[in-house]
Amino acid sequence: MEYSVKSGNAEKQRTACVVVGVYDKRRLSAAAERVDSASDGMLSALMRRGDMDGKLGQWLLLHNVPGTLADRVLLIGCGRERELADVQFAKVTANAIRSLESTGANEAVSYLTELGVKSRDTYWRVRQAVVTSQNTVYRFDRLKSNPENTRRPLKRLVLGVHGRKNLHDGERAVRDGTALANGISATKDLANLPANICTPSYLAEQARELAKKNAHLKVEVLDEKDLKSQGMGAFLAVSRGTREPAKLIVLEYSGGGDKRPVVLVGKGVTFDSGGISLKPAAAMDEMKYDMSGAATVLGTLRTVSQLELPVNVVGLMPATENLPGGNATKPGDVVTSLSGQTIEILNTDAEGRLILCDALTYAQRFRPKVVIDIATLTGAVIVALGNQATGLMSNHSSLAHDLLNAGRYTGDRAWELPLWEEYQEQLKSNFADMANIGGRDAGAITAASFLARFTKKYRWAHLDIAGSAWNSGKKKGATGRPVPLLVQYILDQVEA
Ligand code: BES
Ligand code: MN
Ligand code: ZN
Repeated sequence: MEYSVKSGNAEKQRTACVVVGVYDKRRLSAAAERVDSASDGMLSALMRRGDMDGKLGQWLLLHNVPGTLADRVLLIGCGRERELADVQFAKVTANAIRSLESTGANEAVSYLTELGVKSRDTYWRVRQAVVTSQNTVYRFDRLKSNPENTRRPLKRLVLGVHGRKNLHDGERAVRDGTALANGISATKDLANLPANICTPSYLAEQARELAKKNAHLKVEVLDEKDLKSQGMGAFLAVSRGTREPAKLIVLEYSGGGDKRPVVLVGKGVTFDSGGISLKPAAAMDEMKYDMSGAATVLGTLRTVSQLELPVNVVGLMPATENLPGGNATKPGDVVTSLSGQTIEILNTDAEGRLILCDALTYAQRFRPKVVIDIATLTGAVIVALGNQATGLMSNHSSLAHDLLNAGRYTGDRAWELPLWEEYQEQLKSNFADMANIGGRDAGAITAASFLARFTKKYRWAHLDIAGSAWNSGKKKGATGRPVPLLVQYILDQVEA
């Protein structure tokens, strides 16, 4: 879909559909007010008659409203004016898109971006409207022979801003929002793709394709021979069971001169069967999204490079399948990581930390400003936080603070869990420097505690996205999170 901004009056728009908000208790927004007076009180009359009272979730489509130039006017319920905050704004925007999709309109001018949202400005509202709209129209139907099409897909959305003085902020917001939405969609596509298509080699190919399109991007792919000569024994312990060759994908974006880079490390397990510690069959199909960390890194770098931000970002994506096989790692096996520390693999299903620990050691060579890893690491984080929040753990409090803030600004929220030294106790092994599992209690934290042993030399944060990256049930599919959080964090670095 194409987006643009415009300042002007609702009743004067010559378009397929004008979208205006109405509040609870039949209060009209400023744009609705104008349509109302142009039509001699049509909106207030139909609200008085009870066709619509402005509750969040309601909508009403009107045709040929007198005094207006649009074919249709769509009224969107916004709930209580004073309670309109980030979450409500996202709902209102998504409702508008869904109702537009059910009409025959292929373009619309929306005045919802002129509504007051608590502590948010024009830039935020327009950018968020673009991102939420793109998220709402997103479909993954490339593997269906007959895509279920909406009647006439929405092609163009014009977003209203208040007065000409806000046009510049609005345009900047459309540019940033579009780039962010592209990153999110790219991440969703990769995570939704099945594991027979999205293999480690496929991910490497995607990184190469992306790098071709932007002069600031450079890609390098290490194969198993390279991993072996580097000494990545932990990573290779995971890829032993599969015939798909493992890859360490290194994608570097240089737009910031000699600034130290933000290094993003994304877990890229393209299918996690659990290995010899095999998972149960129920919902095992969903383990195709165990590469969402890597997909997030690719999506984030897509956005950063599209915006040509003056920063340096390195993406590291260890990619492999985790399968059982005659050559697979067995519970009890001891391996030596790139750091030199030895690991007793008590459960081959705790494989994410094994590939990440070697990538995190490798990250040192980039002299990082910070290192952030992104991983669908534990079922335990879903037990703790559900799919609302990403689990955040960090060895540096101001980095944690910046990430939490970026999450709040974008509505892609994270929540911090403690990473106290005491948890290290649970990782003791009788046969190696550490075990790869820490027992039932505090599973998300012991996984992070394992990684913490490999990240002592730099500022580091860990994002456990097992919950936030995926919707189960009827809306089964990837969410594209936490691309918004990471892009915002990087945008904040530009301004700082
Ligand atoms: N990829 C899984 C984590 C996961 C579970 C993601 C459910 C999404 C939904 C990870 O590799 C894993 O299997 N973790 C184990 C760790 C355990 C063996 C210590 C888990 O969470 O059960
Ligand atoms: Mn696993
Ligand atoms: Zn996994």
